[in-house]
Formats: sequence, C-alpha cells, structure tokens
Amino acid sequence: APYGTVIEAWYPLGHGDKGLLEEPVFVALAEKYGKTPAQVILRWHVQMGTSIIPGSKNPAHIADNANIFDFSLTEDEMAEIAKLDGTMTYYTATEEALAGYLAMRPDFDAQE
Ligand SMILES: NC(=O)c1ccc[n+]([C@@H]2O[C@H](COP(=O)([O-])OP(=O)(O)OC[C@H]3O[C@@H](n4cnc5c(N)ncnc54)[C@H](OP(=O)(O)O)[C@@H]3O)[C@@H](O)[C@H]2O)c1
Repeated sequence: APYGTVIEAWYPLGHGDKGLLEEPVFVALAEKYGKTPAQVILRWHVQMGTSIIPGSKNPAHIADNANIFDFSLTEDEMAEIAKLDGTMTYYTATEEALAGYLAMRPDFDAQE
C-alpha cells in the first residue's frame, strides 16, 4: 500500500464462465442497475480496488467492459457478492509455475 501497488485480477471474468455470469446475485444486480452480469462483476473488482484487464474479442463486450463507472454497488451488495468467495477458482498456482514467474527476466531495455 505505501507504494500504491494494487492486486491484478488474473481472470476477472473467469474466462467468461457461464456459471459465473449466471450467478443469481449478478443477474439480480444487473437487472437492478440496467447492466450486464459481466459489468456487475467488473464493477465489484473496481470497488475492491483490484486492477482488471478483462479479455474480449467482441467489440460490444469491450465497450460494455469500459462502461462500469456510472453506477456503484452498495456495501450490502458487496457483502452479498463476497459470500460467493471460495466457490470456484479459475487459476491454480503450482510450485513450478510460481518458480517460472520468479525466474522471468523480461528485457525491458530492448523495448522501444
Ligand atoms: N500476465 C499474464 O501472463 C497473464 C496470463 C494469462 C492471463 N492473464 C490475465 O487474464 C485475463 C484475460 O484472460 P481471459 O481472457 O482468459 O479471462 P477473462 O478476462 O476472465 O475472460 C474473458 C472471457 O470473457 C468473455 N467476456 C469478456 N467480456 C464479456 C462481457 N462483457 N460479457 C460476456 N462475456 C465477456 C470473453 O468472450 P468474448 O471474447 O466473446 O467477449 C472471454 O471468453 C487478463 O486479465 C490477463 O491479464 C494474464
């Protein structure tokens, strides 16, 4: 925190998992705010202070994903979403993978 470092969501939309996008809490909040479940999920990330880079090849989704700054989830809604925590993971770190990340030495000086 003293350096302004934030956590990045690794798969902020769970690879577009239908089960996630159809979670009743996201569907209900999407209806309430006139948004899509994906937008509610991305808004939740932003309010958590998490950095998000959602992947999409669909222009309509890309536009939707940037259009999440005209509504706010309430504290109660954030708490309701938090209850889902732990039901599903979209990335499992292995010792090997973590060692690989630690060993990465990108050649930043070679970049223009
Ligand atoms: N740094 C790394 O080495 C590394 C490696 C892997 C992954 N990542 C992170 O992974 C993320 C991208 O990975 P990902 O693409 O698998 O995961 P994701 O962002 O969780 O999900 C992308 C999926 O969600 C769908 N989607 C996107 N916007 C949507 C919307 N508004 N409504 C409905 N569906 C939507 C996309 O389909 P459409 O194309 O049809 O929209 C796509 O299938 C990035 O955050 C990236 O930083 C990073």
